[in-house]
Amino acid sequence: MKIAMIAAVAENRVIGKDNDLIWRLPDDMKFFMEKTSGHHVIMGRKNFESLPPKYSPLPNRTNIIITRQKDLFIDGAHVVHHLDEALEIAKDNGEEEAFIIGGGEIYKLGLAVADIMYLTEIKASFDGDAYFPEFDRTQWTEIDRINHPIDSKHKYEFDFVTYKHR
Ligand SMILES: NC(=O)c1ccc[n+]([C@@H]2O[C@H](COP(=O)([O-])OP(=O)(O)OC[C@H]3O[C@@H](n4cnc5c(N)ncnc54)[C@H](OP(=O)(O)O)[C@@H]3O)[C@@H](O)[C@H]2O)c1
Repeated sequence: MKIAMIAAVAENRVIGKDNDLIWRLPDDMKFFMEKTSGHHVIMGRKNFESLPPKYSPLPNRTNIIITRQKDLFIDGAHVVHHLDEALEIAKDNGEEEAFIIGGGEIYKLGLAVADIMYLTEIKASFDGDAYFPEFDRTQWTEIDRINHPIDSKHKYEFDFVTYKHR
């Protein structure tokens, strides 16, 4: 099973503020929805709580939530206490590509086990309180980069970048 991380990251590595996203980039949201649809998605408890009610749990995906709380039960989702446990569920279900979908604390855990990263690199910096972890670029090969320009629906330019672990 391939382990993927998928994130939208600002130039200063910011990914969110006050447990919410900062930017509105519909084509990036569409990319996320299409890429992860039908797959296992693994997320931190805070990221799960930040999802709008309409997308909670994320539809058409097996949602797995990581928490240290022993008594947390969430309707329509698996609740686990370790990343390994989450990956085990995905593997046992015959998943081919499991997605670690954040936030910052969970990306940090995921970096040690990920095979591939789909990063939407936004060409701007933001004030925030959640970050994508710094990663050793000598360990990752950029295999794809597609630019998305500013337009009427997208206030910021960004690149869809794929990095493969060496
Ligand atoms: N730009 C993007 O692509 C993107 C994607 C996802 C999220 N975000 C943003 O990221 C922010 C949330 O990220 P965050 O870093 O604050 O929180 P998070 O990673 O979503 O969740 C943190 C929580 O995960 C649990 N956890 C963390 N490490 C654990 C471990 N080792 N073992 C067991 N449980 C563990 C804890 O839950 P308990 O407290 O319940 O124990 C912890 O409070 C939001 O602003 C969100 O909008 C951005």
